[in-house]
Amino acid sequence: MAFTYFFRDMLTLELITKYVIPQVKGHRHIRVWDAGCAHGPEPYSVAIMFRENMSHFMFRNVKIYASDIDTSSRFGEIIVNGVYPEGEIKRIPSEIRKKYFSKNGRPGYYEISDEIKSCLTFTQHDLLSLTPVATDFNLIVCKNVLLHLKPKERVDVIKMYHDVLVPGGFFVTEQTQKMPMELESHFQQVVGNAQLFRKV
Ligand SMILES: C[S@@+](CC[C@H](N)C(=O)[O-])C[C@H]1O[C@@H](n2cnc3c(N)ncnc32)[C@H](O)[C@@H]1O
Repeated sequence: MAFTYFFRDMLTLELITKYVIPQVKGHRHIRVWDAGCAHGPEPYSVAIMFRENMSHFMFRNVKIYASDIDTSSRFGEIIVNGVYPEGEIKRIPSEIRKKYFSKNGRPGYYEISDEIKSCLTFTQHDLLSLTPVATDFNLIVCKNVLLHLKPKERVDVIKMYHDVLVPGGFFVTEQTQKMPMELESHFQQVVGNAQLFRKV
């Protein structure tokens, strides 16, 4: 199973809350692509942050496309079921955990709420196909994936992200990932200390 966990990167979740959600909150369609989502902890953490910052009514407009090359062929099933062992959810702040997770019939397992589950769809997808899973995204999250690609592949994948973001849409990647020089004019860095970018 890929290395990932719920609320792995609090800084990114806080930046999404501060810069992205206020921009998209009133929209009828809010589309997020979590590329390289593993078995779900990251896209579900993003979904929870959206729900924490909007009403049930507005949250119905949020659609998260979670995708991964998924060499295990099990990620889709895990994401659809939304059931995780206690060990995987223990880092979630307790008030959030209580709100969105309930005990599953299986001892030691917890299930995420139907409301959160219903905003996510999973697609088995290779980023190197350079075919997007959809278009018109307000936010693309791609963390701890680009580092595995060759420099040219990284440029091609980020260029694909640029093409499918709406004007002013956001792209966030891991702290250690620099925007390739070829694409610097395509994005504006939103804050100096994090890799959150806005489509120019
Ligand atoms: C370390 S995990 C990162 C999971 C999550 N984004 C996070 O940061 O916690 C890397 C994920 O990237 C996926 N991945 C690697 N190469 C990929 C590709 N070419 N297309 C799609 N996903 C890929 C792996 O299957 C794995 O699930």
